Amino acid sequence: MIAFTHKPVMPEECMQGLAPEESGVYFDGTVGGGGHSYEILRRSSPGGRLIATDLDENAIAAARQRLQEFAGRFRIYKSNFKRYAEVLADAGVGGLDGVMLDLGVSSFQLDEASRGFSYLKDAPLDMRMDPSGGLSAADVVNGYSEERLAKLLWEYGEERFAKRIAAAIAKRRTSRRIESTAELAAIIEASIPAKFRQNGPCARKSFQAIRIEVNGELDGLAEAVKGLTLRLNKGGRICVLTFHSLEDRIVKNVFRELAEGCICDKSLPVCVCGRKQEIKILTKKPVTASEREREENPRSKSAKLRIAERIREYS
Ligand SMILES: C[S@@+](CC[C@H](N)C(=O)[O-])C[C@H]1O[C@@H](n2cnc3c(N)ncnc32)[C@H](O)[C@@H]1O
Repeated sequence: MIAFTHKPVMPEECMQGLAPEESGVYFDGTVGGGGHSYEILRRSSPGGRLIATDLDENAIAAARQRLQEFAGRFRIYKSNFKRYAEVLADAGVGGLDGVMLDLGVSSFQLDEASRGFSYLKDAPLDMRMDPSGGLSAADVVNGYSEERLAKLLWEYGEERFAKRIAAAIAKRRTSRRIESTAELAAIIEASIPAKFRQNGPCARKSFQAIRIEVNGELDGLAEAVKGLTLRLNKGGRICVLTFHSLEDRIVKNVFRELAEGCICDKSLPVCVCGRKQEIKILTKKPVTASEREREENPRSKSAKLRIAERIREYS
């Protein structure tokens, strides 16, 4: 296994948002290498507790090592954070004082060539965060119809040449299965007109789109963000870091809905919708990384951080 080299994005901004407290109980749904979790545990010492999840066993092993000085104060589950209710029930936790979600892949996953996430390194087409189950990237690339591929490349990758790329994939796989990242990257490259090939690697958007599909990254995200926000105790905060416009829009819309109170027509004498304001949004616009961080950690360039605070008790 290669060393876990993931620099947490906007750690200071996230911790200012979460404001961990000594007696708090925190949930980190995407523990990764434990960068944000480390700060949560450090700043909530000596009594703060942390429940964390990740889909990736290698990430969990790295996080356990990184957090060992806080042994006894944290538990990490190999689970999708969308199954937070089961995880929190198992941990015997009710209301939370803070939630951290840092979505997407880690630099570690991208750097580990054998995982097949990177178009820069040749490897079997896999891209599963949890390689123990589910469809691999090869299954998607070889099994989806041309139309379905074009749609996902367009929607998840905002790839303007989605149709051409999907057509080239469909053509190639009539003679043989596409099994490697290098093969797929070459097909994508060849599908993009020469004059559009100058602005960096051509395969980035398509690889991102396939990864989002393979891992179902957007499926159930709104429900999970909403459910976790409603698990917060009064005054508890949620910080969500996103790296894709569709993810950011989902988080923005969930926060908006929860920050809105009654939506009844103003002419009605009493509320009939029963909706109450649940949170206060602390970031009217998403926070982005400083110039310095963007230079030092290129992954932070596309990051958007949204923070909200619960204004009602969890019951
Ligand atoms: C950007 S990294 C997190 C890095 C971490 N905050 C740190 O500072 O080291 C995202 C991690 O979340 C995991 N992940 C992504 N989606 C997940 C999901 N739905 N459930 C659980 N883990 C997920 C990935 O496997 C990856 O390890």
